[in-house]
Amino acid sequence: MKKEIIISPSMLSANFTEIDKATNLIKDSNAQAIHLDVMDGHFVPNLTFGSQMIKDIRKITDLILDVHLMIEKPELSIDSYIDAGADILTFHLEACTHSHRLLQYIKSKGIKAGISIVPSTPVEMLIPILDVVDNILIMTVNPGFGGQSLIHSCVEKIDFLDKYRKDKNLNYIISVDGGVNLVTVSGILKAGADLLVAGSAFFGSDDKIKFVKEIKQLG
Ligand code: DX5
Ligand code: ZN
Repeated sequence: MKKEIIISPSMLSANFTEIDKATNLIKDSNAQAIHLDVMDGHFVPNLTFGSQMIKDIRKITDLILDVHLMIEKPELSIDSYIDAGADILTFHLEACTHSHRLLQYIKSKGIKAGISIVPSTPVEMLIPILDVVDNILIMTVNPGFGGQSLIHSCVEKIDFLDKYRKDKNLNYIISVDGGVNLVTVSGILKAGADLLVAGSAFFGSDDKIKFVKEIKQLG
């Protein structure tokens, strides 16, 4: 049986003065989620938005809010993202010392707890937390900007995580973020990904319904 692939278009590639229009475009495309990249200018060399933006988007959509925190010490502001209405809340392993504790805290609030790793972090670093995590976001570009090319060596990490969860009978979601487009997507799906973030490929596509349909059909 085919599994359902979740498409999560990234607002990073939208026009920030027209967030409501972008939200509707995502809904009309039949994508199931909205990827929201929070950047602090420290963990990554770029700044975007904070919890207020997510709170406002929550008011206008029922789509899954897939929040990707690229911020140092996420534990200091995690409550504001929980209160804003995130459905999936993902922070970086590299940005938080007590990631096991923070994952459990997010889960205790009834929200899916996610962890992400940058391309230079080995996937094995995740092993100690794989039994508590709901979502793993594999970065396939160095985080900070949209429109970069996928780093192919990162795709092996997806394969590792898919085999590991089958072996250990775990049921975390494997998400992939960075350089996902109609050319790179088949290798990513073959490796075992469940959720695909697409920024520039989604917003740059003339026919977003077709874009989403084509990816879902490959699943
Ligand atoms: C990059 C962000 C991504 C970004 C992906 O740091 O985490 O979510 O929007 O953009 P594309 O799909 O254009 O690579
Ligand atoms: Zn992201």
